[in-house]
Amino acid sequence: MTPASFWDGVAEHYAKSKIRNPEQYHLSLERTRSYLRPEDRVVELGCGTGSTALLLAQNVALYTGTDVSAKMIEIANGRLAGETVQNLDFIVSDSDSDALGTSYDAVLALNLLHLVDDLPATLRRAHMITRDGGLFISKTPCLGPKRWVFAPLIRALKLFGKAPPIVRMLTPEVLEQAITDAGFEIIETGDYVSRYVVARKS
Ligand SMILES: C[S@@+](CC[C@H](N)C(=O)[O-])C[C@H]1O[C@@H](n2cnc3c(N)ncnc32)[C@H](O)[C@@H]1O
Repeated sequence: MTPASFWDGVAEHYAKSKIRNPEQYHLSLERTRSYLRPEDRVVELGCGTGSTALLLAQNVALYTGTDVSAKMIEIANGRLAGETVQNLDFIVSDSDSDALGTSYDAVLALNLLHLVDDLPATLRRAHMITRDGGLFISKTPCLGPKRWVFAPLIRALKLFGKAPPIVRMLTPEVLEQAITDAGFEIIETGDYVSRYVVARKS
């Protein structure tokens, strides 16, 4: 199973699921909003069904949501059709793709980095498409500290096709080192259920 086929298969269910911790979600959303300016061009990697994109697009000039799953993007486009927002589009794209555009003021990866095949490559690509001085903003489940629970659980779920093909057991330290190694300087971290990291391309 590829990541695209897994996420295509769960997209309808994902679209209907509720945010697990709305308070923490909104706190991290507000932190992200505080970094965005009305003139910014933003790309979100792994945008899923576009809910966060629809909330943040109103704060910037242009916002592109991208996802490897065509089904997720179909749902996102369906949501977009019901809105008046003009500056948002959604495209099917892997986070490593060289077709993502360049010189973004901000690149967002929310609940994505633990799922990618090659984390250093994804972060290098994110660095490449961020303008000098631009921001990389991520939120990532770090299951590493509790791998003794999560690793066997995810292995079992995978046998039934109920977990994504790749789930990394990251720790905040490993994640933040990888972000730094890609050429970013970390300027804010926080814990909003998942690890929140804001980093600047220097
Ligand atoms: C856990 S969901 C998160 C969706 C959304 N960002 C959110 O926070 O609700 C992970 C998303 O990442 C997408 N994804 C997984 N691997 C990807 C990759 N290599 N490139 C782009 N998107 C990917 C999946 O299709 C899915 O929509």
